Amino acid sequence: MIPRQQASPRGRRVLLGISGGIAAYKSAELVRLLVRAGAQVQVVMTDAATRFVAPLTFQALSGRPVRLGLFEAADEAAMGHIDLARWADAILIAPASADFLARLRAGLADDLLSTLCLAADAPVIVAPAMNQAMWRAAATQDNLRVLRERGVRVWGPAEGVQACGESGPGRMLEPEEILRALNGALDVAGDARQAPLAGVDVLLTAGPTWEAIDPVRFIGNRSSGKMGFALARAARAAGARVLLVSGPVTLETPPGVERISVESAREMHRSVMRHAPGCDIFIGAAAVADFRPAQVASEKLKKGDSGSMELALVRNPDVLASVAALPEPPFTVGFAAETQDLRANALEKLRRKGVDIILANQVGGEEGGFDRDHNAVILLTADEERSFALQEKGRLARAIIAALAERYRARRTT
Ligand code: PMT
Repeated sequence: MIPRQQASPRGRRVLLGISGGIAAYKSAELVRLLVRAGAQVQVVMTDAATRFVAPLTFQALSGRPVRLGLFEAADEAAMGHIDLARWADAILIAPASADFLARLRAGLADDLLSTLCLAADAPVIVAPAMNQAMWRAAATQDNLRVLRERGVRVWGPAEGVQACGESGPGRMLEPEEILRALNGALDVAGDARQAPLAGVDVLLTAGPTWEAIDPVRFIGNRSSGKMGFALARAARAAGARVLLVSGPVTLETPPGVERISVESAREMHRSVMRHAPGCDIFIGAAAVADFRPAQVASEKLKKGDSGSMELALVRNPDVLASVAALPEPPFTVGFAAETQDLRANALEKLRRKGVDIILANQVGGEEGGFDRDHNAVILLTADEERSFALQEKGRLARAIIAALAERYRARRTT
């Protein structure tokens, strides 16, 4: 269980987005309940929402002018939309219409509310409300699947008689139910936004290893270190003390992160095994060479007359498996880089290496993995699977660290 430190939204900043739907009338009660519970509520309405309820209603209930447009000079001068996105502890869209969900999934930023969702670090929660056929439509369900994969939380809808007279799923949850759910979400989000890894020691590996053949040649791989460095930065931002053991890369060490530079798998293994005992979380993002040349020539190898050459290889130590096999192992997280059968191969690594979590990523394609700015992973445990859609590695790293922090804390408290 995640410890609950705060059981009400008192003092928390809720950005309530209202999109166009008849359920917008229920949002007035939601604002009233939130304000009564001590939350600071900033209402943002889409153009369509203003056709259902006048902004003045929400202004009166929230005590703040409602934000309506992206290009309102006076509003932007008071608090620009990027600052507004950062201001929020949670972004709750209630009601979320089918149209708004589609726009959110597409990543549009052509009005204020969609722009805020795109720019926010805070959790985004949607409470859908629409006609039951629109809810069941394949396009809506597909949009929801993608949004869930990206970490958007979907609350509801409820079933029942709808404003249009039809019956089925599509009614927005009642304001009291949304408030109850928000209490829990704000606890987690609040903790997460403060410092979910405060006081936690995180040890990470990143980058490739180089296995020397002779003084000038080596066996290496295409890892740039971007994924591991992004994770180190995100762990540091989450309050952890971070030690990064990195293979040869050209990246700057993230501020506040301690770094040890190594070259070969054996150096990485030595360095990690020196620091792993006593650390709380270990993340193996490095692409460690499984084999190294059996002999390292002391002089540059000559081509000779033969048209071929044989290189004998021997097995390198497995850094990740060694950490997981410690008598008191840290919470151990590995990656699985696969070109085929992603899940099956990753699950096999989870079991064989004895780790708590495997982050499976598809490599070798055009879109993510080695030496790309974007990546997608599937988080796998013995009994859980969660997908993180293709996104920029910095953003992905923050989402991964938030998920790891939740699971690490859950394990500590059980
Ligand atoms: O660095 P980037 O360009 O940003 O690319 C990111 C990445 C694709 C390298 C990264 O996301 C990733 O997948 N890292 C792990 C690469 C890898 O070696 O995967 P693997 O499936 O071969 O190994 C499984 C796990 O065992 C990994 O956690 C690896 O660090 C670890 N391992 C492997 C071999 C070994 N001798 N020791 C290890 O610790």
